[in-house]
Amino acid sequence: MLRLPSAELHLHIEGTLEPELIFELAGRNGIALPYAGLADLRDRYEFTDLQSFLDLYYSNMQVLRTEADFADMTRAYLRRAAAAGVRHAEIMMVPQAHLARGVALETCVNGVASALADSEAEFGVSTGLIAAFLRDRPAAEALQVLEALLAMDAPIIGIDLDSAEVGHPPGGFTEVYARAHAAGLKRIAHAGEEGPPEYVREALDLLGVDRIDHGIRCMEDEELVRRLVAGQVPLTVCPLSNVRLRAVDTLADHPLPAMLERGLNVSVNSDDPAYFGGYVDDNFSQLERTFGFSADQLATLAANSVRSAFLGEQRRDALL
Ligand code: HPA
Ligand code: ZN
Repeated sequence: MLRLPSAELHLHIEGTLEPELIFELAGRNGIALPYAGLADLRDRYEFTDLQSFLDLYYSNMQVLRTEADFADMTRAYLRRAAAAGVRHAEIMMVPQAHLARGVALETCVNGVASALADSEAEFGVSTGLIAAFLRDRPAAEALQVLEALLAMDAPIIGIDLDSAEVGHPPGGFTEVYARAHAAGLKRIAHAGEEGPPEYVREALDLLGVDRIDHGIRCMEDEELVRRLVAGQVPLTVCPLSNVRLRAVDTLADHPLPAMLERGLNVSVNSDDPAYFGGYVDDNFSQLERTFGFSADQLATLAANSVRSAFLGEQRRDALL
């Protein structure tokens, strides 16, 4: 359990689908899953890299059909996040993955948004919704979906860029990010998870991002580190994700302590907790076991998460 109020800033809501809920939703929607049972599904949670995870992650999304499915998934996450000590959550959803399966934009957006709307009263967790776009699909498609989200007045606070990173640099999405900025949305992008430091630089220079998801490979580039420290650019780090997707060999090899030491604005997040072995509290407890963080370091991580959130002043002050 976290001792300090914390914000979760890097969370894919579709990555919170636990095996039990996958089977429940499949049953409800009459979908035949290609797994013998829960144990068979769990046995597949061994990943060799980002793509091997994405294949299972996109496949399991097929169980999400109705607004109620999206709302139930979101509510299950919020309940678990509250138990982990999360007091504010900025949650990504990936509309293109659902549109491609014939699920209407309104169905996925309204389903997730309806659970978020009740979250503060129900779980004490304030929320924001972020639309993530697929970097391995054409930028024109992302732009079309962004226009549709704006046209329906979707309650989003920002956009993100995710999926297969290597070979899909941020620079291809300048138009999408310019449009989002013009519409008053925050700009976030995954960069430096599997991709090189150059992708982090592109996200800053070409997309104008306010926050970087992952960013751990910045540590290979001293000049970039200095720039990120100087600008206090938030990096939403996901330690258990990095271990499970083989971005680092073991948790003991994770650069988080070195990043903290350098004064980078890092926070701890769960990414796709159902797939990577745990929620924010699990990330913290394994980090503490491995690195024995001091009370000061833990306080810095919690404070970084709150000050890097897109929060109003009042809520921010209440959580700091
Ligand atoms: N990286 C890139 N894309 C993703 C991830 C991730 O960790 N999780 C869900 N989509
Ligand atoms: Zn992510």
